[in-house]
Amino acid sequence: MVVGIVKEIAVDEFRVAMIPEVAASLMGKGVDFILEPGAGIAAGFPDAVYVDRGIEVVASRSEVFEKADVVLQVRTPGASGERGQADVDLMREGLVVVGGADALTARDMTQAVAQKGALLFALELIPRITRAQSMDILSSMATVAGYKAVLLAAQTLPRMFPMLMTASGTVRPARVLVIGGGVAGLQAIATARRLGAVVQAYDVRPAVREQVESLGADFVDLGLDTQDSEDAGGYARAQSEEFYDRQREALGRVVAENNVVISTAAIPGKPSPVLIIEDAVRAMAPGSVIVDLAAERGGNCVLTQANETVVVHDVQILGPTNLPATVPYHASQMFANNVANFLELLVDEGELNIDLEDEIVKATLVTQGGEVVNEQVKGTLAS
Ligand code: NAI
Repeated sequence: MVVGIVKEIAVDEFRVAMIPEVAASLMGKGVDFILEPGAGIAAGFPDAVYVDRGIEVVASRSEVFEKADVVLQVRTPGASGERGQADVDLMREGLVVVGGADALTARDMTQAVAQKGALLFALELIPRITRAQSMDILSSMATVAGYKAVLLAAQTLPRMFPMLMTASGTVRPARVLVIGGGVAGLQAIATARRLGAVVQAYDVRPAVREQVESLGADFVDLGLDTQDSEDAGGYARAQSEEFYDRQREALGRVVAENNVVISTAAIPGKPSPVLIIEDAVRAMAPGSVIVDLAAERGGNCVLTQANETVVVHDVQILGPTNLPATVPYHASQMFANNVANFLELLVDEGELNIDLEDEIVKATLVTQGGEVVNEQVKGTLAS
């Protein structure tokens, strides 16, 4: 089986879907790789490093699409914006495409891929079950984002993070509030603690308290009833508007006590809950910083603008939507490991073997035989 690695085409995307070392681990299992020239260079993996691992560099991107049985991408056409169409044009019947696809939102591009007869596997649809943890690109990339969000905040804040006691006086530590204690939030807590900040964290799911405390942060109890906040899969449930009103009011007081807010609250498949209103921002000290990781789906702060930094009431509000691409070396390494673990499901003795009885294969297969076949994606097409 031949697997192709191509350069990412989305704007400001510096990751690559497969790195040399991880590719080598699959090569003993009957998988050969081909590479578009320069595919990994922006992530810190020059062609020569792939060649050292026995990977062939072909002449062009179109040659990869022509010769490969499977093409790997961090962002398949649906997740690459307008530039994705050029890749759809290169696709052919039976080609397997694996990567992030934004399949639940990029309807037109998903249908265009279907019409080409390609098989699209959308890795963002990997179920959060134990067996799939090693393939979960949302978790690995949220880990990178949680880390980088804190570094951005530290760089933007006109204060230091750690406490210092020097001959020139004492510097008080920065106070950081992390909203949402999922994957990104827990990594943000750990990173802020490593930099010496005093950290508080809040989540609607009471089960998060223990994890927050084990990282050395204080769990914020807003005194709201959160009994039904967690579903059977361990995810947060959407709450009533009345609950959100009370939450916004109570949270506003905590926000005002902090120099930095990293917000990561998310409900699967829904817009981000709005938790920080303008009054809360107004109450923060001048120079404070909010990094809103939920910006792509509307943001947790009402003032957030995706991919921009806005300054309101002397508070800087950052809404980055692709932080993993700003740490491309390790983000690519983690992504490649996720992809390799997923590919193992599709390969049997060096041949493609798509087992639709497998829960993970079924959940991620979006297009096959000229049609959109994924139930979850079909649901969004109908609406
Ligand atoms: P997750 O599902 O692991 O965590 C989200 C957390 O938010 C959960 O613990 C949940 O209980 C909590 N939550 C939900 N509603 C809440 C509320 N009303 N109040 C307080 N907490 C609430 O998600 P993950 O993987 O940590 O991702 C977090 C966010 O970061 C998502 O919006 C994701 O899209 C985004 N993200 C952003 C990136 C970027 O570069 N900006 C990169 C990767 C992820």
